[in-house]
Formats: sequence, C-alpha cells, structure tokens
Amino acid sequence: MTQIISIANQKGGVGKTTTAVNLAACLAKLKKKVLLVDCDSQANTTTAMGVDKPALKASLYEGLIGDAGIEDMLLPTMLQGLNLVPANVDLIGFEVEMMSAPRREARLKEFLFPVSDKFDFIIIDCPPALSLLTLNAFSASHAVVIPLQSEFFALEGLGQLLDTIKRVKNAFNKSLIIKGILVTMFDRRTNLSQNVVDDASQYFNDLVFKTKIPRNVKLAEAPSYGLPVILYDKTSPGAKSYMSFARELLKR
Ligand SMILES: Nc1ncnc2c1ncn2[C@@H]1O[C@H](COP(=O)(O)OP(=O)(O)O)[C@@H](O)[C@H]1O
Ligand SMILES: [Mg+2]
Repeated sequence: MTQIISIANQKGGVGKTTTAVNLAACLAKLKKKVLLVDCDSQANTTTAMGVDKPALKASLYEGLIGDAGIEDMLLPTMLQGLNLVPANVDLIGFEVEMMSAPRREARLKEFLFPVSDKFDFIIIDCPPALSLLTLNAFSASHAVVIPLQSEFFALEGLGQLLDTIKRVKNAFNKSLIIKGILVTMFDRRTNLSQNVVDDASQYFNDLVFKTKIPRNVKLAEAPSYGLPVILYDKTSPGAKSYMSFARELLKR
C-alpha cells in the first residue's frame, strides 16, 4: 500500500523542505521505494536534490495543467529507490490559470495516479501558504506531517492549518489524517525550545513525534551541495535525527 504524505505548514522557514528531502532520503535508505514531489514554486526541494532547474524538460507545472505525464518527468536521484518530480518557478502560474478550472483541487492526485502503486511512499513538499497547490497536496494525500519550528510563534496559525485539513477532509478526501507534528530546529539549551515542545504536547498529545530535529548546521549546508544530509554527513546529529524520524514514522 502506497502512503502519500504532505509536509505542510503555511509558515515559511519552519523546515518543510528540509523534512521532505531528508525524510524521503532516509526512507529510501531504509529500502523503501520513494517519490519526492516538489510542490512549491520556490523549488527548494529540486535544488536541494542537486537538479539543474534551467535544464529541466518538464516540471510539475506541465504535469498539473496536463501538458506532460508523470512518466516523462520522474528523475532518478543519487539514492537508489528515490525518484523526484521537480518544480520550477512556472508553478506560480498554476494558481492563477486554474482559478475556474473544473476539479482544480484534484490535479495533483490525478497526475500521481499512474505511478502511485510503484512506490511505498510519496512525499510532497508544500508551499508556505494555504493555497490551491496545498489544497491539491492535501486532496492527493493519506496523511499530513506538520513541521513545527521551536520558536515563540510556532503554534500561531496552527489552528488555521488544522481547519484547512478538516475542510479538505470533509469536501474532497475523507481518509485524510494528521500523521503527526515534528518539532524542528530544536535547541535543548534553551527554555524556549522546551516550552514549544511542552505547549505542543499539551494540545496535541501523542500526535507530537518523539523524535525532535535539532538545530544542526549540516542540515543547512547539505542543500548547497545538492545532497540530502545522510549523503553529506551521515554522522551528523541532523542525519541521525532524520533517520530516527523515518523509523518512528514507519512504526506509526
Ligand atoms: N534542523 C535545522 N537546523 C539548521 N538549519 C535548518 C534546520 N531545518 C531547516 N534549516 C534551515 O532553515 C531554513 C528554512 O528551512 P526550510 O526547510 O527551507 O523551511 P520551509 O521549507 O518550511 O520554508 C533553510 O535555510 C534550512 O536549511
Ligand atoms: Mg520550503
């Protein structure tokens, strides 16, 4: 059974892309067949996987508007078992052009359908907005993972995100669940980080993953080499924490 998981939070800079790239890589390392889908026009996931964007023949945009099929677009990566659907800045056009298109929230689901049973996991990196692209990601997914940055405003806006998930569940996708909340950029030396974890645990109980992702410079450096952290520095705390997150997710 394929599991399709969106990595979502409408806030920017909370660790969505870092989580999508490294979760996908770690699952592949654990011998799963994984497809990583870049669903953000900033295309940070595509860059982080070392893909030369200007050289792309087709990207998610062409796929969503129906100009290209997914088979023409799957890129192999440096990790066995991990494929990528790349994005580029063209994706900005999708929101505007689809404004009144029929079934505009189901485009991603329909695009993924021909290959979805070839993968154990499809990991979708969402944009920092509750936009039509995020709606497409939620409509296509079985579950959502919410990265939560351990800083003061972390929980602000979370209500809106949970409402959106609920609305998509009611309108388009009965089986959508929240897989869990992942604390990112955790710094065990600060009270602030611990406070965010305590607050999140109080509201969301067991929904908060036990694994916390520490603030680790290797996680920030790896994308500039076009590598997931397990290929950049597999002994770093960042690499170890994403491996244990992948294992925890497999058990959940
Ligand atoms: N655990 C971490 N430790 C250090 N830097 C991180 C960590 N997670 C993310 N970053 C850095 O923080 C910035 C924002 O992360 P990113 O994953 O791009 O967030 P988002 O996709 O939610 O906008 C990036 O520069 C990234 O490299
Ligand atoms: Mg991002």
